Amino acid sequence: MNAPLNEQFLTLQEIVAAARRNLAPGPWSYLVGGAETETTVRRNRLALDSIAFRPRVLRDVSRIDATAGFFGRKVRLPVMLAPIGGLESIVEGGAAAAARGAAAFGVPQMLSSVCQPGLEATAAAADTVRVFQLYVRGDDAWVDDHVKRAQDHGYAAFCLTVDVAMYSRRERDLIGRFVKPWRATAPAGSSYQSGLSWDQVKRFKDKHALPLIIKGIATVEDAELAVRHGVEVVYVSNHGGRQLDHGLGSAAVLPEIVKAVANRAEVWVDGSFMRGTDVVKAIALGAKTVGLGRLPCLGLAAAGVPGLVRALEILENEVQTCLGLLGVTSFAELTPRHITAAPPVGEHDVFSAFPLMGDD
Ligand SMILES: Cc1cc2nc3c(=O)[nH]c(=O)nc-3n(C[C@H](O)[C@H](O)[C@H](O)COP(=O)(O)O)c2cc1C
Repeated sequence: MNAPLNEQFLTLQEIVAAARRNLAPGPWSYLVGGAETETTVRRNRLALDSIAFRPRVLRDVSRIDATAGFFGRKVRLPVMLAPIGGLESIVEGGAAAAARGAAAFGVPQMLSSVCQPGLEATAAAADTVRVFQLYVRGDDAWVDDHVKRAQDHGYAAFCLTVDVAMYSRRERDLIGRFVKPWRATAPAGSSYQSGLSWDQVKRFKDKHALPLIIKGIATVEDAELAVRHGVEVVYVSNHGGRQLDHGLGSAAVLPEIVKAVANRAEVWVDGSFMRGTDVVKAIALGAKTVGLGRLPCLGLAAAGVPGLVRALEILENEVQTCLGLLGVTSFAELTPRHITAAPPVGEHDVFSAFPLMGDD
């Protein structure tokens, strides 16, 4: 009989190694891969590894509160399961399994529109704090229908992912001849995706009351436009390095975007946030919520729903350890003075946060 998960997995590195063992080559490459030479993937990690902490001591950190707020709800950490299409190729139950894990631990889930079992069934699977992410692959009526369904099923906000005007070249998938689960059946709608403009953002804000998140902002200029269009959340992301190659790392562009947005909207971020220290760095830089993309998938691939919960527990432990060692007892006490630029050490790739996970 297997040992309980809290004995099997004492570290995130062991979870990543187990996921590697469990996944077939196609889904594994789909999960970890980026676009073309994967420069953006590496820069995501490099940007995080180029930040060091400035710890303060003798500050009574015997009680640490790592909770956060998310659309008026209290959540256990300032993190969210980022939207993942095709989760069903990684874990049985797909998004429903992720919802159960998110609910059991106590963090929000952002559901991808290209993930099974879909908007309604995922909402029914667990009482998560949830938001819905749409790839615009239809006309205005098609978008409005999704907004209504999301609203009817308790999604707290709506997200448009806007860094997919072109479908990128993911060479691991191409070389492995891996066909995305949704690509076989989904109606062709890519012309809507490439035709998207700020006009549709304006139309959304004029028509719908549901808070709007724009995911895939990578410049100060677009952050400013998003704010001027009245969006509630500017989500800084380069799609985990899976879209435009040779972009900057998310953590590198985050500070200037936080400054430009100047509290007129929330700023969220994702891109290789794998460790508790990464989450703390994001919040110190001014992000409100950190999206976790690959990490929850690795937990699910390692051991299903309990594997995801275990990954989040370890992450929480890392966050609490980091906060305490920085001399703060909550995220509210964290400031940019707790971090500083520093030369990075070692390698920077999708798994460089896990140097002990074994061969790749
Ligand atoms: C397998 C996979 C599928 C993804 N599918 C979507 C998606 O359907 N919609 C979306 O907005 N982003 C999608 N993303 C991007 C993630 O939401 C997130 O931006 C990215 O993974 C963050 O980087 P990280 O994986 O290094 O944490 C996907 C990412 C991965 C790894």
